[in-house]
Amino acid sequence: MSQSKNKNNKHTEVFKPFNIIVFGGDGDLALRKIFPALFHRDQDGQLLSEYNIIAITRGDSTLAKFEGNLVRFLEESVDGQASGEEIGKFIQRVTLIKAENATIEDYKDLTDYLNKFPSYQNIYYFSTPSAAFGPISTTLKACGLINKDSKVVLEKPLGYSLESSNAINSEITKAFTEQQIYRIDHYLGKETVQNLMVLRFANNLFERAWDSEHIDNIQITVSENLGVEKRAAYYDNSGALLDMVQNHLLQLLCLVAMEPPHTLEADEVRNEKLKVLRALRLFNKKTVQTDTVKGQYTRGVVKGEEVQSYLEDIEKFGSKTETFVAIKTYVDNWRWKDVPFYLRTGKRMNKRYSEIVINFKEVRHNIFPSKESLNNNKLIIRLQPEERIELVQMTKIPGPGGYRYRPIALKLDYLDSFKERFPEAYERLIIDVIRGNQTLFMSQDELIAAWNWIESITKNWKATGQNNILYEAGTWGPGDLVLDKDTTWVTKTWKE
Ligand code: BG6
Repeated sequence: MSQSKNKNNKHTEVFKPFNIIVFGGDGDLALRKIFPALFHRDQDGQLLSEYNIIAITRGDSTLAKFEGNLVRFLEESVDGQASGEEIGKFIQRVTLIKAENATIEDYKDLTDYLNKFPSYQNIYYFSTPSAAFGPISTTLKACGLINKDSKVVLEKPLGYSLESSNAINSEITKAFTEQQIYRIDHYLGKETVQNLMVLRFANNLFERAWDSEHIDNIQITVSENLGVEKRAAYYDNSGALLDMVQNHLLQLLCLVAMEPPHTLEADEVRNEKLKVLRALRLFNKKTVQTDTVKGQYTRGVVKGEEVQSYLEDIEKFGSKTETFVAIKTYVDNWRWKDVPFYLRTGKRMNKRYSEIVINFKEVRHNIFPSKESLNNNKLIIRLQPEERIELVQMTKIPGPGGYRYRPIALKLDYLDSFKERFPEAYERLIIDVIRGNQTLFMSQDELIAAWNWIESITKNWKATGQNNILYEAGTWGPGDLVLDKDTTWVTKTWKE
């Protein structure tokens, strides 16, 4: 990845001038993440080239209403760190264009606008439901708005099954080549997720012990206390498995399990991740029942407040959509033989936190008189909300009384070590699109491999009629209830 700062910490890399055209431009994601990300990069002095932002909207959003919303979200995102004048200057770059449908006629204003900047690269950002991706691509092509410099950014969900995902892809690839497509997974842009690469591949210490000989199991947890917010319709079609596991958790798993790539070139990194996805053990009717748990939240108390059940949140009684999922899986290759990977995620949990825990095996031979277990070495990588790394090791308890020991953590607090502001995931990812670096974006092959594995779960859930286990909002999920012998790992390991 390129170095873009000089020794005075100033950005020096000049990108080709660009227009970034955001479809769904008055939507939540655009206002909350995409525009603030561009604003932060601009404020940081990284956008040294000319650029324009175009928000494409369908509804009856007026310019005044749109700008009012945009100012509000920008202010929220900078938390007093930018003046009204700076925000106003940024807003001047944003043009609102209405295009009700993806037709040549409705794209006339957009076409006229973009034709004024023939030497710019056009970056089309699809922040709409994925059913619109194909029609938008087709019309952009028909309007002559795609050339070799154009790029397209795709937000998830890319379909709801392998078949629908492939169908969307085949429509998009009639207009854009694979080299022009950026499938975004914002987890890959998080600083702490990036640090996983450095932790693994810039430290000899860990890599030597990174295999089934030394590691007992790996646990990846993304626990949220939010509910489904205003996304009931989308979420009820997806559930925790498609919303979180199919993308974010699998990408984290890939970064933990992949072989060292030859370089950081996009294809090198993506091919290593692809090998992991292809090596994931598929589920069958039996293993889906023993090694997966799905759950749905009922009413409860989150952060001291009473909250509704999922069914009340979505106002659709009888929904079988899962809001929690826990999965035990294996990467069937030489390095990871028989090492279980536990993946867990849920909404309306007790606490918001994401972390990866590497549990090491017990020492080969215990020379100490105590019969206490010595399998307490852990590497804990806390991704959010506090970013830190802990290495838990056995330590002698001082004083007489023979060798008594207990686990103590060596802690590296990311915030204490680095005083600078951490850029948001979207900032890094959007810059990589402008720059033309696909390393942190999913390839189509990765997507297919992820879907194959996911479908071995969805199809077998369907075939076996596996039900949700209800859990009270604000708890640690159905783990509290699951006592079955084969799934005790849920109860044993979910809690902090
Ligand atoms: C999104 C999911 O991709 O990630 C949301 O659609 C989820 O349901 C969100 O809340 C979590 O992201 P983060 O960055 O807050 O962990």
